[in-house]
Amino acid sequence: MAEIAELTAQKESEIEELRIRLMGKKGEITQLFDDFRNVLPEQKRELGQVLNTLKVAASQKIDELREVLEQNPGESSSAYDLTKPGDLVELGGRHPISVTRDEILSIFNKFGYVLAEGPEIEDDWHVFGALNFPPEHPARDMQDTFFITSGDNPVLLRTHTSSVQVRAMEKMKLPIRIVCPGRVFRNEAISARAHCIFHQVEGLYIDKKVSFADLKQAVLLFAREMFGEETQIRLRPSYFPFTEPSAEVDVSCNICKGKGCNICKGTGWLEIMGCGMVDPNVLEANGIDSTQYTGFAFGMGIERIAMLKWQVKDLRHYFENDIRFLKEFDTVI
Ligand code: DAH
Repeated sequence: MAEIAELTAQKESEIEELRIRLMGKKGEITQLFDDFRNVLPEQKRELGQVLNTLKVAASQKIDELREVLEQNPGESSSAYDLTKPGDLVELGGRHPISVTRDEILSIFNKFGYVLAEGPEIEDDWHVFGALNFPPEHPARDMQDTFFITSGDNPVLLRTHTSSVQVRAMEKMKLPIRIVCPGRVFRNEAISARAHCIFHQVEGLYIDKKVSFADLKQAVLLFAREMFGEETQIRLRPSYFPFTEPSAEVDVSCNICKGKGCNICKGTGWLEIMGCGMVDPNVLEANGIDSTQYTGFAFGMGIERIAMLKWQVKDLRHYFENDIRFLKEFDTVI
């Protein structure tokens, strides 16, 4: 026992060595406990007490040594060894979705669009009502979402960044020329082509005499900046409750240059966004005189643009944060 009291150790590694020597699987005290089985019954009581006291003393000693070391790390402590080489800190990179978002925004910035943002947790009015989706309208089916409350104007997770258009019309002075990036949510089963969380960039331009030709020009200039000088666009008629007329925009496939490949499924075209002239109902619902003002809007999925840019085939990669995937992109800050 007196020997235990005199034990010393300065470093954490020495203390650990001592603990193993005394109380590890094959330690001296552990061994004594093993031998205890062979002790004569009449000696068991007395010896048992001695062994237990020994064990308690040893573990108290170890705790004590650790405490002393903690309070007074001293020069010999490995935690303060200034001659040791430092830990290597790996430099991170930006996520491909952030890189793509910033590229889209900087293109529209050059065209004079300013940044606008809105909340991800929205109400029905801003996501649907003010955008000309009456209650029970079938167009709502394509954007099923996660409802937080029920009632007349339920709170929900926004399904598109078009809700930011509404917020901008409510508080900005005309003319309005904005781009709105952000995260959106839909009640979708997760697969290579769909996810319940994704990102969009929305655009809105409202002024006197804004025409469909202006919309086409804006989209063409964007497509050429994003996908290259030779890019062609085509507009296919489509439907959105908040625009009339509405169109889907395709760009000529930048892989096969329009000849047809497996990326564009042999068509030579890739769909990149929806767009249209803001429906007069939407302008009026937001207090803008539709006899004086017109406007266009467009919306695109950032994941989709990034997939086309880098030929990523599975949407899920963007959300898994697998370092092997992220390292594929030359995005070091
Ligand atoms: N909000 C639409 C969606 O998520 C995309 C969209 C289409 C936005 C046309 C627009 C637009 O502003 O004009 O499917």
